[in-house]
Amino acid sequence: MKKSLVIMLVLVLVTSFSLYAGGKTEEAAMEVDNSVEVLHWWTSGGEAAALNVLKEDLEAKGIEWIDSPLAGGGGEQAMTVLRTRATANDAPAAAQMLGFDIIDWAELGFLANLNDVAEKENWDAVIPDALKKFSKYNGVWIAAPVNVHSTNWVWANKKICDELGIATPITSWVDYITALDKVQASGRIALAHGGQAWQDATIFDGVVIAAGGPEFYKASMIDLDPTALGSDTMLKAFGMMTQLRGYLDPNFSGRDWNLASAMVIEGQAAFQMMGDWAKGEFLNAGQVPGTDFVAFRTPGTQGTVTFNADQFVMFKVDESKRAAQEMLASAILSPSFQVAFNTVKGSVPARTDVSDAEFTIIGKAGMKELAEANKNGTLFGSMAHGHAAPAAVKNAVMDVVTSHFNGQYGDAEAVEKLVQAVANAQ
Ligand code: GAL
Repeated sequence: MKKSLVIMLVLVLVTSFSLYAGGKTEEAAMEVDNSVEVLHWWTSGGEAAALNVLKEDLEAKGIEWIDSPLAGGGGEQAMTVLRTRATANDAPAAAQMLGFDIIDWAELGFLANLNDVAEKENWDAVIPDALKKFSKYNGVWIAAPVNVHSTNWVWANKKICDELGIATPITSWVDYITALDKVQASGRIALAHGGQAWQDATIFDGVVIAAGGPEFYKASMIDLDPTALGSDTMLKAFGMMTQLRGYLDPNFSGRDWNLASAMVIEGQAAFQMMGDWAKGEFLNAGQVPGTDFVAFRTPGTQGTVTFNADQFVMFKVDESKRAAQEMLASAILSPSFQVAFNTVKGSVPARTDVSDAEFTIIGKAGMKELAEANKNGTLFGSMAHGHAAPAAVKNAVMDVVTSHFNGQYGDAEAVEKLVQAVANAQ
């Protein structure tokens, strides 16, 4: 009797433990972690205001946003830290990413499959092919596109232009140089700029088009044709960069892009050549488009758009975060968020089925020009922001452009260096 009692007791203990453990395991399997750490580089006033739209949207849906901002326009610093963290098996749940970088990370197998939410919400039908090229890898959705920015823009202080009788928009390079001369002769800073490689390269996107037209941008920056890269037209482009260098203030080196925007906003400078995230700074400063500031395409590039799309990728992290990651991806693609975010950010929606009603005159123009450029075959990825060529080539071009802009190379030498650098980077 005693023995059987003991056996029974042991069996009860083992069964109850396994039930508990089983229950615990099931409970653990059901455990959902509703927090998502998001790594990004949106730290300026306008960028933070736009990011807040996303944070608040998610928190209203019960998702805890763990913010990991890494200042540094263009995302270079963010990608450096991300590489370190991912190789230490410490990737964030989500990260802001651009163009070819997304494909690189997908190839390495780090990115979560978003097909479930993408198919449920029919992303394929509303995201343009130019973006899908970077949002999908081998037919799998691996990124949620937030917006479409473009880089070939000039931002102008309207009061200065009016005072000096400068008519805007300025559409030809010759008229642009005349306007820059007029501002400089008035004792003001003609061109506000931040001397950082990615900013120099952002200007170069538009200058290459102004020098040789959309076909030349395609041949040199997209096709990486050595003949185009080494051509007299490329020599002309570097000559135009040298021209622009003469209109900067002495303290431009190392300046952050949003501080250059502030110089135009505050009337210290007349122009800035920057992507349309600059619009977010003007709006965040309470500036009224058409009254306080105007924006026009880099003179000589009308009809052509060099774009970059901000996307969020979800890293393969603990399964308990999966639901929250999918909610983040879904929130990013929601039509209401696409309007609320992009009207603040200065970009246009990634979705093609969103109305332009709530956008400014500049936003409406941006959406129209993007659609037209896409139709006309004059929509190209920005080299400066990772949408024209893989990172190794982008960095090679950026190094040559910034070295030339800082006087290390003359125009002709820059052309030679560009051909060599791009060839070595492929
Ligand atoms: C771009 C990004 C924009 C903005 C800009 C300045 O690469 O797409 O959203 O962040 O850098 O930092």
